[in-house]
Amino acid sequence: MFMRVRVFETEARVARTLASRIATLLAAQPDLVLGLPTGRTPIPLYRALVRLHRRGRADFSRATTFNLDEFVGIARSDPRGYHGFMRRHLFDHVNLAPQRVTLLNGDAPDLRRECLRYDQAIARDGGIDLQILGLGVNGHIGFNEPAHSLVAATHRTRLRQATRRANAALFGHRLRAVPADGLSMGMATILRARRIVLLATGGSKARCVERMLRGRVTPRVPASFLQLHSDAEVWLDRAAAASVGNAT
Ligand code: GLP
Repeated sequence: MFMRVRVFETEARVARTLASRIATLLAAQPDLVLGLPTGRTPIPLYRALVRLHRRGRADFSRATTFNLDEFVGIARSDPRGYHGFMRRHLFDHVNLAPQRVTLLNGDAPDLRRECLRYDQAIARDGGIDLQILGLGVNGHIGFNEPAHSLVAATHRTRLRQATRRANAALFGHRLRAVPADGLSMGMATILRARRIVLLATGGSKARCVERMLRGRVTPRVPASFLQLHSDAEVWLDRAAAASVGNAT
């Protein structure tokens, strides 16, 4: 296995350990550039970061964040989108400077330009120091869905049914209300991050974790491309590690 794997007893322990690693990185490098995911998986991490911040142990005042993806057609102010998700779980509770918090605008008048702007903004800020990722049940990262080929740059993409289902809770559990398209950091945007930590928790991810770690590098499992990165770690709880054992 090319990726380093860490297995923790519970998802709470995954979250606490990563939160304190981020706090340590922020102390050493206050202008850290973080890439952030949404989904169920990072919620305990955000909760742990908020707790550390309230205790004065995590200072975000000079940090920059870029989120991985957003739904097309959803305005920034819409609570159902990832802007709203991030405000609720992290941004409203820590001291990030609003001008250094960047998300894709799924409601921009020109989405191609919006995607170009995003890659340029990341490059202008010197690239991402630590990219945190979740894992879609179908092997996606961000909204880079399984396909015959993958896209390097930030782009607009059609969401798979499995992905729309996984996101339905944000839209009142109404599958039809989930947008058909998303904007996502591209594979190269993600793989250019200096360090990557992918989080996967819960038994529903176990099979996909095994394919990502042990399978071929294939666009059918976009997360398998992380095998090509020189500093990518996979942090799992016991349930997500069920098919790969205790490998470290
Ligand atoms: C969404 C996000 C992905 C995320 C995935 C996993 O589709 N766009 O970036 O990794 O959800 O979701 P969960 O953590 O809820 O399993």
